[in-house]
Amino acid sequence: DTGQDQGELRAHGQEEVVRAAGALAAGGLVLLPTETVYGLGADASDPAAVAAIFEAKGRPRFNPLIAHVADVATAARIAAFDDRARALAQAFWPGPLTIVAPIADASAVCDLARAGLETVAIRVPGHPLARAVLTAFGGPVVAPSANRSGRPSPTTFQDAFSETGDKCAAALDGGPCQVGLESTVVAVLDGPVRLLRPGAVTRAQLEAVVGPLAEADDDAKRSPGRLALHYAPDAPVRINAEAPNVGEAFLAFGPWPEGEGVFNLSPTGDLAQAAANLFSYLRAADRIAPTTIAVAPIPDQGLGEAINDRLRRAAGFVG
Ligand code: TXA
Ligand code: MG
Repeated sequence: DTGQDQGELRAHGQEEVVRAAGALAAGGLVLLPTETVYGLGADASDPAAVAAIFEAKGRPRFNPLIAHVADVATAARIAAFDDRARALAQAFWPGPLTIVAPIADASAVCDLARAGLETVAIRVPGHPLARAVLTAFGGPVVAPSANRSGRPSPTTFQDAFSETGDKCAAALDGGPCQVGLESTVVAVLDGPVRLLRPGAVTRAQLEAVVGPLAEADDDAKRSPGRLALHYAPDAPVRINAEAPNVGEAFLAFGPWPEGEGVFNLSPTGDLAQAAANLFSYLRAADRIAPTTIAVAPIPDQGLGEAINDRLRRAAGFVG
């Protein structure tokens, strides 16, 4: 927990948290800050509320949602955790890891939220405001990223509000998201643990806990959200660009002269900083209406794996 997050929590006070929990209990949608990206939350057990999420995002109903809970004990009642899932929860929660495991309490996370699957994706977020709302509400809250389907995930309150704020009964401003990329998603089912979506918790961090991960290539069906042209701004995206062409915006990485249309993800070449800036800079670049958004090469190590995953999808390269 950072000083900034604690400050945000104080600024809001328990009153706003209680109001958000009440909105969830009444079947409403809530704009919820997390440490990864802003979420669009609803009562996971309420099919009508969950249907409103799919409607607000324009999200296909075959794409299941992540259930957010306040603590590991609650997660382990809703999902069937084996030793590996428990070890991952212990190592990375609260935090940016989502665990897909068999569903144990099917009424807690309704069929629609799971897109009819016998598994559930679950995580304990680290953001103090999210945790306060989850504790006050008392049950699991499904929250996809608060963007309309196919658009970059929102990492600031303003971006989140402009995407889906008009559909919400309550909206909490938790400041800019510290991580800036969605959670890592792993499946802990039969066989080795599978990486379904690279994210803030890196491959190396996961392998230190559960050993070598299985490749995700044949897993498209298990993570139906992993479609091409996800996270896409309006302008086309050109990745691995050594320099911008005339008329292009440029997302630089490392030392690069400042200039019109240049957005430097991290002048010092820091991957965590680049991850935190990625989605808001894609949106900022979009606002100057460039022919193309060119993006500098990003090293594929550590957090770079997740950054490059999002960039390939923004560029439409992943089927
Ligand atoms: O960081 C995050 O995870 C954010 C914040 C708000 O928590 N949420 C988020 O949710 O990114 P969403 O809905 O945009 O992405 C959920 C991903 C999708 O790729 C979906 O297909 C996958 O998780 N997923 C959900 N349930 C699943 C399941 N039972 N099996 C496999 N994949 C699942
Ligand atoms: Mg999303």
